Amino acid sequence: MSEPHSPPQVPESLKKARDAFPILKRTVNGKPIVYLDNAASTQKPQPVIDAISHYYSHENANIHRGVHLLSTEATAAYEAARGKLARYLNANDESEIVFTRGATESINLVAHSFLEPILQPGDEILISCLEHHANIVPWQLLCERTGAQLKVAPIFDNGDLDVDAYLSLMGPRTKLAGLVHVSNAIGTVNPIEVIIEAAKAKDIPILIDAAQSVQHMTVNLQALDCDFLVFSGHKMFMPTGIGALYGKRSRLDQMRPYQGGGDMIAHVTFDKTTFKKPPSRFEAGTPHIAGGIGLAAAIDYIEAIGRDVIHEYESQLITYAADRLKAAPGVRLIGEPTNRSGAVSFVMESAHAHDIGTILDTEGIAIRSGHHCCEPLMGRFGISATARASIALYNTPEDIDALVAGLAKVNQLFG
Ligand code: ALA
Repeated sequence: MSEPHSPPQVPESLKKARDAFPILKRTVNGKPIVYLDNAASTQKPQPVIDAISHYYSHENANIHRGVHLLSTEATAAYEAARGKLARYLNANDESEIVFTRGATESINLVAHSFLEPILQPGDEILISCLEHHANIVPWQLLCERTGAQLKVAPIFDNGDLDVDAYLSLMGPRTKLAGLVHVSNAIGTVNPIEVIIEAAKAKDIPILIDAAQSVQHMTVNLQALDCDFLVFSGHKMFMPTGIGALYGKRSRLDQMRPYQGGGDMIAHVTFDKTTFKKPPSRFEAGTPHIAGGIGLAAAIDYIEAIGRDVIHEYESQLITYAADRLKAAPGVRLIGEPTNRSGAVSFVMESAHAHDIGTILDTEGIAIRSGHHCCEPLMGRFGISATARASIALYNTPEDIDALVAGLAKVNQLFG
């Protein structure tokens, strides 16, 4: 049995991180909360809560429509959030950022507006075995509508993508390649740089699902040069219901509208409607204005700490978690990827994943148990569910120690 790594030192700028999150002060079942379900959704720091409250208390109005002061202030704040996100991800231009409800809507938007009009029967869409349902089901629905085929690249037993297999599946009929950056279920970090390079060489548009990476590492769009990248804000300290689709401007320009309605049109008559340029073309109706404002506040919060500091610390913490869990009696890790970020999944001989989650909850420890919206991946490992611990910048080695102690209790009760 390997020796557990020694616990990482919490860096100075993260020592008080927990204090910024009011919800982490509450108790659960009489115990201080240990929140290890961050891949499902992160908690919100006070500056994000304050920004939303300030918006509703001082600036609330609809955007892009009014000439009155509240509307112009709300419009400026929402558009400033778009600019901030574009800089955060190092997009070429803020018009490449389409605000959506999250990664799921972003992928559906690409399926409907980019891919569907160019797809012919027999064309192929390539994904990997590691994908979340959000990067599987929209393509399946599209295949049903068009007669295209979904191709799935396999993984190795340790949870690493079989990169050669993925590359060999990029054929002349591949019309889009989709790949998750970091697996929400088992924490694998995919070598997206290599895959994007290969896709570009073959002129295949590529979409990266960054829902589990933007909060843990720097994602530099100009360096990556992918065609599309999607994420959900609520997994990065932002409100639910706000996220984004990044699309290269040349791709967005060729795309048809997604939903029709107000704010996405240039002119409407009963005979014909013309549309605004991207990103407005894809943002019909009143958007989640407060969400955009919360998103901007979350970026400020992260940048004040420093993305490199967060990345370095979290890498050590998740390695510590994986090592401690691997050494814990009766625990078997599911996925031991070469590069891990954010999450570690496991099963136990003594108890089902849902029982593990329930017992841990009595100890105030929140994890996720189930298939993690990755049923095909669970099938690849011959299981139906795992228990998953997933971290954020406010987690500490003591949280991991509490988890391991909680699993000893599971063994006691079920073993
Ligand atoms: N995709 C989210 C998760 O992994 C909900 O838990």
